[in-house]
Amino acid sequence: AAMAAERALTMATCTAPVNIAVIKYWGKRDTDLILPINSSLSVTLHQDQLKTTTTAAASRDFTEDRLWLNGKEADVGHPRVQACLREVRRLARKRRGGGEDAAALSLSYKIHIASENNFPTAAGLASSAAGYACLVSALARLYGLEEELSEVARRGSGSACRSMFGGFVQWQRGERPDGTDSLALQVAPETHWPELRVLVLVVSGEKKPVGSTAGMQTSVETSPLLKHRAEVVVPERLAQMMQHIRDRDFEGFGQLAMRDSNQFHATCLDTFPPIFYLTDVSRHIIALAHRYNAHHGHTKVAYTFDAGPNAVIFALADTVAEFVEVVRRSFPPTTNGDQFVRGLPVGSAVLPPELEAAVLTEPVPGAVQYILHTKPGPGPQLVDDPSQHLLGPDGLPRSRA
Ligand code: DP6
Repeated sequence: AAMAAERALTMATCTAPVNIAVIKYWGKRDTDLILPINSSLSVTLHQDQLKTTTTAAASRDFTEDRLWLNGKEADVGHPRVQACLREVRRLARKRRGGGEDAAALSLSYKIHIASENNFPTAAGLASSAAGYACLVSALARLYGLEEELSEVARRGSGSACRSMFGGFVQWQRGERPDGTDSLALQVAPETHWPELRVLVLVVSGEKKPVGSTAGMQTSVETSPLLKHRAEVVVPERLAQMMQHIRDRDFEGFGQLAMRDSNQFHATCLDTFPPIFYLTDVSRHIIALAHRYNAHHGHTKVAYTFDAGPNAVIFALADTVAEFVEVVRRSFPPTTNGDQFVRGLPVGSAVLPPELEAAVLTEPVPGAVQYILHTKPGPGPQLVDDPSQHLLGPDGLPRSRA
């Protein structure tokens, strides 16, 4: 035990997933503690396709806290990073009951943190949820914490608390002013619905006009629709969505996911001045999904959009090949045609002429950059293999090949 305390450098590495909400979080009742005006529900995506990796290290030789994001040094003083650090250290102190445990890592040591994504940040795929979930997981591991940590991840980014679990996850809004009951709960594990698949349609990438933090605050201040949504609509929908997930009812799940995405974007239009996250390409994809479902006579695909133009499509495994072909024909790739479909393998499909006639319209070349095929996945993972640490024995980022 005495040896552990004297060790020069202690390190822990974790990975964490991205999540996509099917009942959206939009609006805070407390901006400092990040307490939402309504509960939300999301699907955690598989880390084989989308993940953040974070290494946290502590040493008595470090002279200051430092942070590197995707290999570049970043501001460790960012209030949300500081909130997570402070909360993890507070829990570690509490756990030790004030007394100094010789085996425990000293809380006075400075820390180094390195974090990177296995997907391009520029693609506009929600990276802050995975980022803060991963930061909190790695710090918790470093300090040997084992308790519920979604409450801490929430302090980094609201949606990050849902990335602390795999599968289907609810963030319950809570009632208490101190936020101790505003946490994430797993509704069902990723194994619950093995046929469920996710297609991320990455549309040509301009940066989003208004970030979600600022956007949702303006919505809270100006949108009467948002108030109605939080008070009346979401409580009903949340209960329905949980039932659809329990029943593995794709029709119910998909319809409600689409309606909730649409209502979220309606609250953005109801915000004053209005906020627009959907683009013409987003609206093309929405219309395409509805034509496709109408042709089949039931809900085969469902879209959802966050604070940006990329579409996330839910479908069952037996629909993926056909719908991917529909997307390829609707938005023919202009560049990297070979890499148009990434992630899990997608079979080939030939579209029946009736489907072509009913679903396809004038193609829009290049509007979709690529499709990422993934599925629901597990929560944060510990990385055991020391060769995977993002920091070297000197506590600095390893040079990346
Ligand atoms: C549209 O969690 O990014 O993706 O709490 O201010 O960090 P902050 O906001 P953030 O908002 C996510 C909004 C959303 C919907 C959702 O994920 O539920």
